[in-house]
Amino acid sequence: MYVLGVETSCDETSVSIVKDGFEVLANVVLSQIDIHKDYGGVVPEIASREHIKGITYVFDKAIKQANLSYNEIDLIAVTKGPGLIGSLLIGVNAAKVISLNYHIPIIGVHHIAGHIYANYLESGMEFPLLALVVSGGHTELILMKEHYDFNKLGETQDDAVGEAYDKIARVLGLSYPGGPIVDQMARLGKDSMNFPRPMIDSGDFNFSFSGLKSHVINTHHNMLQRNEAINIEDFCASFQAAVTDVLVAKTIEAKNQFQVKQIIVAGGVAANSGLRRKMKELIKDVPVFFPGMNYCTDNAAMIASAGYWQYQKYGKSDDLFLNGQSRVKLEEVK
Ligand code: KG4
Ligand code: ZN
Repeated sequence: MYVLGVETSCDETSVSIVKDGFEVLANVVLSQIDIHKDYGGVVPEIASREHIKGITYVFDKAIKQANLSYNEIDLIAVTKGPGLIGSLLIGVNAAKVISLNYHIPIIGVHHIAGHIYANYLESGMEFPLLALVVSGGHTELILMKEHYDFNKLGETQDDAVGEAYDKIARVLGLSYPGGPIVDQMARLGKDSMNFPRPMIDSGDFNFSFSGLKSHVINTHHNMLQRNEAINIEDFCASFQAAVTDVLVAKTIEAKNQFQVKQIIVAGGVAANSGLRRKMKELIKDVPVFFPGMNYCTDNAAMIASAGYWQYQKYGKSDDLFLNGQSRVKLEEVK
């Protein structure tokens, strides 16, 4: 089954073609990072305009790369949310045009289901499994007992991990997106600043990163005021150590409680080298999988894979009334 995936929820314009949920025949991604960098973050209005400029190009390129014609596509899977509404609408409407023109069934996919299924592209899935979702907008622990069955065990009560990374990077004078740069700096520094590990002993699977973020920012501000020497690498290493300690501790608790067969990490922050290392170091009894680097951040291959499994479970659940939704729950999209 050939699934054409479309992803435009934030600042990547992407179309991919995936066979049977795992064989990536084309994965075309146009990134807008260089454009938003000048503003220190994603500007929604600019993001939608850039999607408009790029969308037909990425469709054409993906079809050519896969060496297929639209008549051979069995399903279109498009991110319906959550995300920036102006951006989502470009992908959803382009997908509807192709669906109408070539009579291809279309379904709307949840962006986080996509991040989770990025792991299916390379590692497959064995149930029950635990998914740690860590992206710019989400931090969640999800238990899956079978395909396309998402039980949220806990989530962030305030900032998402990626969001905290990006905000701290901005205060430390590093460019956007901050996550990869803080990660790079962290590798050169030491965990010497004694930052707190928020909610590590809370006894549940929820997270909180806003207090840690403020603590880091205030410490930096106070040191500047006192004219103290600031070691950016140590700041980054200490922040990363605090964040990854909490993420890994909660993942281990959930693994033990639910006796899972595998752990998968999903979302942009799955690219983090400190998280990858700590997970592998501290979890030996079940396999821990991370998506390949190009499937960690937003891409349409993960949406096509999730769409394939959503379709296996729920069939054709959408039509041309499909719409983008800036906020939507994972359990609601089927
Ligand atoms: O999944 P994603 O592309 O977008 C959302 O769905 O939110 O994630 C983007 C986030 C950004 O906050 C970015 O800073 C973060 O992932 N990120 C990282 C790393 N690479 C990307 N954070 C920490 N370490 C990294 N290596
Ligand atoms: Zn994402």
